[in-house]
Amino acid sequence: MEAETWWRNTTIYQVYPRSYYDTSGNGIGDLAGIISKLDYIKGLGFETIWFSPFFDSPQADFGYDVSDYYQAAPEYGTQDDIFLLIEEVHKRNLKVVFDLVLNHTSDQHSWFLESRAGLDNPRRDWYIWRDGKGKRPPNNWKALPGGSGWHYDKTTDQWYYASFLPFQPDLNFRNPQVKKAMLDMVEFWLDKGVDGFRLDIFHSIFKDEKFRNNPPSRHFLPYNDEAGFFQEYKYTVNQPETVAFAREIRELIMSYRPERFLLGEIFASDEIKRDYLGEDQDGLNLVFLWDLPDAKITAADLRRVIEKYEKEYPDPYLPVYVLGNHDRKRVLSRVGENINLAKLLAVLIFTVRGIPVTYYGEEIGMLEGDSPTKTCLDPVGQRYKNVPSFLLNILDLYVNRDGCRTPMQWDPGKNAGFSETDGKLWMPLASNYLEQNVEKLESNSGSILSLYKDLLQLRKSSPVLITGDLKLLETPADVLAYEREIPGGKIGVFLNFSARERQIVTILPVEKVLYSLSSIDVRGDSIYLPAFSAAIIRYKLDIS
Ligand code: GLC
Repeated sequence: MEAETWWRNTTIYQVYPRSYYDTSGNGIGDLAGIISKLDYIKGLGFETIWFSPFFDSPQADFGYDVSDYYQAAPEYGTQDDIFLLIEEVHKRNLKVVFDLVLNHTSDQHSWFLESRAGLDNPRRDWYIWRDGKGKRPPNNWKALPGGSGWHYDKTTDQWYYASFLPFQPDLNFRNPQVKKAMLDMVEFWLDKGVDGFRLDIFHSIFKDEKFRNNPPSRHFLPYNDEAGFFQEYKYTVNQPETVAFAREIRELIMSYRPERFLLGEIFASDEIKRDYLGEDQDGLNLVFLWDLPDAKITAADLRRVIEKYEKEYPDPYLPVYVLGNHDRKRVLSRVGENINLAKLLAVLIFTVRGIPVTYYGEEIGMLEGDSPTKTCLDPVGQRYKNVPSFLLNILDLYVNRDGCRTPMQWDPGKNAGFSETDGKLWMPLASNYLEQNVEKLESNSGSILSLYKDLLQLRKSSPVLITGDLKLLETPADVLAYEREIPGGKIGVFLNFSARERQIVTILPVEKVLYSLSSIDVRGDSIYLPAFSAAIIRYKLDIS
């Protein structure tokens, strides 16, 4: 029987619909395409699928600018296709997570068109409108990707606020009608069977009621948790009302069985993130953590990340282990195209205590695409088109997100098997599709794809890996090691990040090597790990 809190044990796979599989032949992925690949995802062994938005949208931010929360964008399909997707996911005993963009709509949403039409329009107060200060914006609030968050609208001589880009006006959640409209929509999808929601920039939902200026800050780079562009986001993110709203949505989903869950995209300190989760576990079920995708890939740094996650999110909190997503550089590119390192990271996320989230293509080692910022499609990248790429690299600023959104690499044939079109793909393929594609890797037992399948299988069959406590071990340099334990079961995980063999002395005898990356040697109380290899072992507990 399914556990009530199934989401505590799940594994998540993220699909970016535009890039998954095109059945209509227009070079753009679609809902029918996703449905036809559900067996592949099931075959990998994931249990939950999160879909980036496929709702109707002008696609100015590729779906994160919704113009109708009930309909599919025509290039992806119809509302019936969404219903069918939910049904087909469930048929395979998988769970479905929608991406919920609550903070803002598209500026083409009928609500905003009405709102901007006039001061006395009934929907005027659905968005955040203010008078300017003379010719200047109402206050100093900056948008998350930079620039003022305020945008002048000459029809009514007022300014509207947008936390993200100008075409994504923020809804006014202080207006009860707005809250109701959005919660009604959430209920609609819950009733249709959606099992969970990923909440897009949830930390931005409420802004200071008094519209106070944000204080100055020394942080000038964007995407810092709570500051950027020389400004502390004191009054624009993580307001107490947002934390309270997290509890309100949780209350709504709590009336559903089987349980549903909320996974928040939050940028905040760990302390604030815990507030969102709630001391009594009555807020968001899970929040994304960004230390791992930001970490240097060394044993020491990864150890620090795990240590921090364990300290800040002890049971019953659950850390979320993510390596990449549709906003971040492809993990294989991040590790200098060293597939061994990508494999070690996979071993890590499936063997630690927490929820692993995999972004499509990580399982086949997809590389970052090569899309120059000058001509990129990503609206964030376009803002930086005049900044030389060497400077972006020095500052380690990932602003052009085209590269991580290239089409899925299904086979080495035409368009990597993503689309039949003779025309252009919406986004060019990444360069390594001839070698790194599903068809080719499926028949290779040493491939990263086989590794993902094996790890998912192992995790599924191992209560120790799913729920066990985690204890970090003292190890030789370049080795990361930890134990997972439940009463009666203990597993050791050893990852060698160096280019040389490392010897590890175990305290307990090894009963069985459950998994190893390349063949390892166990002699007496020692495990010999070749360069860039990993071992997952079961200890013998009963030594009598
Ligand atoms: C989130 C999404 C990102 C989007 C932004 C605005 O950060 O992950 O892709 O551009 O919110 O909705």
